[in-house]
Amino acid sequence: MEVIIKGDYNGISKEAAAYIADFLYHKPNAVLGLATGSTPLGLYKELIRLHADEGLDFSKVITFNLDEYVGLPPSHDQSYHFFMWQNLFSHVNINPENVHIPNGMAKNVTVFCSWYEEEIEAYGGIDIQVLGIGTDGHIAFNEPASSLGSRTRLKTLTQQTIDDNARFFKNAEEVPRYAITMGVGTIMEARTCILLASGESKADTVAKAIEGPVTSMVSASALQLHPNAIFVLDEPAASALELHDYYRWVYENKPRES
Ligand code: GLP
Repeated sequence: MEVIIKGDYNGISKEAAAYIADFLYHKPNAVLGLATGSTPLGLYKELIRLHADEGLDFSKVITFNLDEYVGLPPSHDQSYHFFMWQNLFSHVNINPENVHIPNGMAKNVTVFCSWYEEEIEAYGGIDIQVLGIGTDGHIAFNEPASSLGSRTRLKTLTQQTIDDNARFFKNAEEVPRYAITMGVGTIMEARTCILLASGESKADTVAKAIEGPVTSMVSASALQLHPNAIFVLDEPAASALELHDYYRWVYENKPRES
């Protein structure tokens, strides 16, 4: 695992955007796995800026989003469809046909989830998967006790996640109880995983994910088994890491290829 610690939120957004942009320059038809939540907003802003100022091209990029609330149509302002179009897709030259987001209105969720998995495979798998982390340690909506081998499926949200996400709705009652989410096993097949975390409220969870035992109780800890997982953290989110200074040293003294 690579642990990159930056001074602030702006720093982590720029670091992740630079990694993705560099990849897209080499592979313009890359398959990106994308996340929602407040954490990747700065990354998306920076990608939009790179598109506008430096011509970063999204015309051949394929995307797969991690998750979606069940029961919210794409037009609902709290649906992840709405979020992605508002915060990224509408501002870059992506082909709408290349965008994949789980359908929260699917009539047959099981059939939909199998199709989603097949689509990811048909495009050759995900090159870079962007992740945030829930306060309960989840990635996507893989709540505690999610199988570390799980695939895209229906998941019941925990009360903690409902309470965490209530800030985006009028009240907690309005937060959907179910979501369609890529599984931990699906995410682990991405060739690179970049997990972003910001703020002191994530510090303990981040420490459990990176330095604690691998456990389904913290689904992000599965990334310890991933061959190319990068954690990009701001100082507050990194503040509970036992090896904080070591990670910083490793990053600052990384041998650069000539
Ligand atoms: C939701 C999403 C996750 C996200 C998490 C954290 O639960 N399903 O993908 O990582 O929120 O959100 P935030 O970045 O707002 O803290």
